Amino acid sequence: MNIKIRQATKKDITFLWDMLYEAIYVGEGEVRPPRSILDKPELAHSVENWGRHGDHALIAIDSDDNKVGAIWIRLFSEQNKTYGYVNENIPILSMDILPKYRGKGIGTRLIQEICTLAKINGYKAVSLSVDPANPALRLYERFNFKKIGVDGTSWDMKANL
Ligand SMILES: CC(C)(COP(=O)(O)OP(=O)(O)OC[C@H]1O[C@@H](n2cnc3c(N)ncnc32)[C@H](O)[C@@H]1OP(=O)(O)O)[C@@H](O)C(=O)NCCC(=O)NCCS
Repeated sequence: MNIKIRQATKKDITFLWDMLYEAIYVGEGEVRPPRSILDKPELAHSVENWGRHGDHALIAIDSDDNKVGAIWIRLFSEQNKTYGYVNENIPILSMDILPKYRGKGIGTRLIQEICTLAKINGYKAVSLSVDPANPALRLYERFNFKKIGVDGTSWDMKANL
């Protein structure tokens, strides 16, 4: 599969919202929440007003230029944070790949590239929030994300860069 990765532009913001919704973990036998869940401030903070200083997003595209996934990092503050927050100097990572493209190595490439980008931008670490039942946990552990806390049913994880 010929997948390319490019930097996101303002035209990709709707796609980032789509990806944020798709990234919500729904356990086996659970019902996917309605899209209006994105109105919750703690989720909305991940994408709203995209384009501020420190925002970086990458988009994976197939050979027909269709978007198949995204990864992004963003800085937060105590007053304006989302799940996985550690401090105002550690960006939080979010990602999603469209279902039929999962498990083909695209997420691995996206994490590699975003970690390089984060390092170039001077960040010492990246954090995230994941449900430990989500198979994505294995991917994060391969990239040296370590559990640093528990928030509800999710784990906060951090990888030093
Ligand atoms: C998590 C995700 C972004 C990884 O991207 P990917 O391209 O599928 O990943 P890769 O093929 O590079 O790596 C495979 C790893 O991805 C994860 N993965 C694969 N399919 C997955 C799925 N359907 N759901 C969740 N994670 C999955 C596993 O950790 C897998 O590792 P394993 O082979 O040891 O089981 C992607 O699977 C996805 O979008 N999943 C659903 C949304 C999600 O869970 N987002 C993260 C929220 S914290």
